[in-house]
Amino acid sequence: MESVIVAIDGPSGTGKSSTSKAVAAKLGLSYLDTGAQYRAITWWMIGNGVDVHDADAVADAAGKPVIVSGTDPSRPTITVDGVDASGPIRTEAVTSKVSAVSAVPEVRALITELQRTIAREAEHGIVVEGRDIGTTVLPDADLKVFLTASPEARAARRSGELKGADVRATQEALVKRDAADSSRKTSPLAKAGDAVEVDTTELTLDQVIECVVTLVEEKRAGG
Ligand code: DC
Repeated sequence: MESVIVAIDGPSGTGKSSTSKAVAAKLGLSYLDTGAQYRAITWWMIGNGVDVHDADAVADAAGKPVIVSGTDPSRPTITVDGVDASGPIRTEAVTSKVSAVSAVPEVRALITELQRTIAREAEHGIVVEGRDIGTTVLPDADLKVFLTASPEARAARRSGELKGADVRATQEALVKRDAADSSRKTSPLAKAGDAVEVDTTELTLDQVIECVVTLVEEKRAGG
């Protein structure tokens, strides 16, 4: 089977992670959650007393933690200096600070390099999800997908994941984070010119997965 590189970008709550994992599992590809890497470095910064709003301090510390991502879509893992970080990176403390850390160019340069190495080494190909994969990290990806959904749908999905969190507060936090991620100077959240946009507002997760699998198969068939 020919190796294929798939970039899936979009804001939070569009179903990126669930879709990317399922597509990778169905097609026998590796999977990389790049948001988890930015979360992991943020978690390390907080734990090591770095002021995340001091861009110079964040830049100075950026090379210190060793972040390792496991790329099996049925069991994605992330460690920081050998410690499992998969739980702590999902906490509110990290979520509220990750946009500040991921806006620092030195952080992006390091993590981008890591992502390119992982993609290069994936034997059968990989699905990489994030915000700047199609535009910056893997501009030569075989297929680029940009997932969108209305802010209401995204907030409803996120608060469901957070087990009953207030939908309005979730929507406000999500819109604020997307605005920060879209307006930063270095590789902001953006749709690549050659990406296929899929609006997931009215679609079930299974429909989104099916749509992306079909797009990959069309590409493989030379479409
Ligand atoms: O996908 P997520 O919510 O776990 O991502 C967390 C944050 O990481 C997001 O707010 C912006 C940042 N991020 C990024 O800047 N570039 C990426 N490729 C992926 C995530």
